[in-house]
Amino acid sequence: MVYYLPKTAEVLDIKDSAKGIKTFVLKIENLGSFPGQFVNLWIGGLDEKPFSIAKDTGSELHLTIAQVGEFTKALFQMKKGDKVGIRGPFGRSFSICENKNIVLVGGGFGTAPLHFLAEEHIKKGSRVKMLIGARSADLVVFEDECRASGIETLISTNDGSKGTQGFITQVLEQVIQDEKVDMIQTCGPELMMKAIAEMAQKKNIACELSVERYMKCGFGVCGQCVLNGKRMCIDGPTVTAEFALNQKEFGVFTRDAEGRRKDF
Ligand SMILES: Cc1cc2nc3c(=O)[nH]c(=O)nc-3n(C[C@H](O)[C@H](O)[C@H](O)COP(=O)(O)OP(=O)(O)OC[C@H]3O[C@@H](n4cnc5c(N)ncnc54)[C@H](O)[C@@H]3O)c2cc1C
Ligand code: FES
Repeated sequence: MVYYLPKTAEVLDIKDSAKGIKTFVLKIENLGSFPGQFVNLWIGGLDEKPFSIAKDTGSELHLTIAQVGEFTKALFQMKKGDKVGIRGPFGRSFSICENKNIVLVGGGFGTAPLHFLAEEHIKKGSRVKMLIGARSADLVVFEDECRASGIETLISTNDGSKGTQGFITQVLEQVIQDEKVDMIQTCGPELMMKAIAEMAQKKNIACELSVERYMKCGFGVCGQCVLNGKRMCIDGPTVTAEFALNQKEFGVFTRDAEGRRKDF
C-alpha cells in the first residue's frame, strides 16, 4: 500500500555496506514496492528525503544510504530501536522482464535498487549480469549480495583497486559487443547514465535509467522535481533512454532545493 502520511517505522538493524554507506533495515509492513521506486524518509523536527528501495520483504524495508550532508549525518547517528517516518512507495519502477538477457549497471550507491531488481528478473526466468562501478574498492556496494544470488558480477574502480581499472561504461561496451543483450537498466551518476543511454541507443538495445531530481512531496504536487516539465517523482524516477535523451536538461543540469540551476 502507499503511505501518503508518514508511517512510523522502527530501525531494526544498521549494517555497514561500504565506506560511508550504511544499510538501514526498517520494520514496515505491506509496502508492496517494486524495484526502482523510492520512499521519503522523515526524521521528526529535521527534514524528509527520498531514498531508493534496496529491498522490500513485506515486513522489512532496506535502504542503502551514503552519508553526504546534515540529514544523512543525523540518520547515521541513529540506533536500533529508533523510529523514523516513511511515506511511499512512490514513482515508476523498472520493468521486470521474462526470459530475457539483462545487464544492470550501478554507479556508486546508485547500485542500491539493482540487486532487488535482479532478483525479480531471475524469478521471471531472465539471466542477469551485474556491472558495478565505484571510485575505489572500499566504495563497492552489493557485490557480496549479487554473488550470493549467483549473479555474474563485474566490477570496475577508477583507481584500479578492484576489478577493471576505469569506468564501468568501458566494461559495458565490451559486454554488449560480446553478447546479445535485450535490456540495460542503470542507476547512478547522471553523466554515466547518459553515456549508457547513448550506447544502448546506438546498439538498438532497450534501456531504462533512474533520474534523480530534488524531491519534496514525492507525489506530484510541489513541482520541485521537474526535468523539462516532467515531474520525476511520478513520471520517473525510472524513464526510458529515449525519453531521457530527448530532454535538454538531462545530463546538463539539475536544480537545488530553491530551484537554482546546478550544472553537472
Ligand atoms: C529518487 C531518489 C532516490 C535516491 N536514492 C538514494 C539512495 O538509495 N541512497 C542514497 O544515499 N541517496 C539517495 N538519494 C539521494 C538522497 O536523497 C540525498 O543524497 C540526500 O537527501 C542527501 O541529504 P543530506 O542532507 O545528507 O545532504 P545535503 O547536503 O542536503 O545534499 C547533498 C546532495 O544530495 C541531493 N539532495 C539533497 N536533498 C535532496 C532531495 N530532497 N531530493 C533529491 N536530492 C537531494 C542534492 O544533490 C544535494 O546536493 C536519492 C534521491 C532521489 C531523488
Ligand atoms: S517532488 Fe513534488 S512534484 Fe515531484
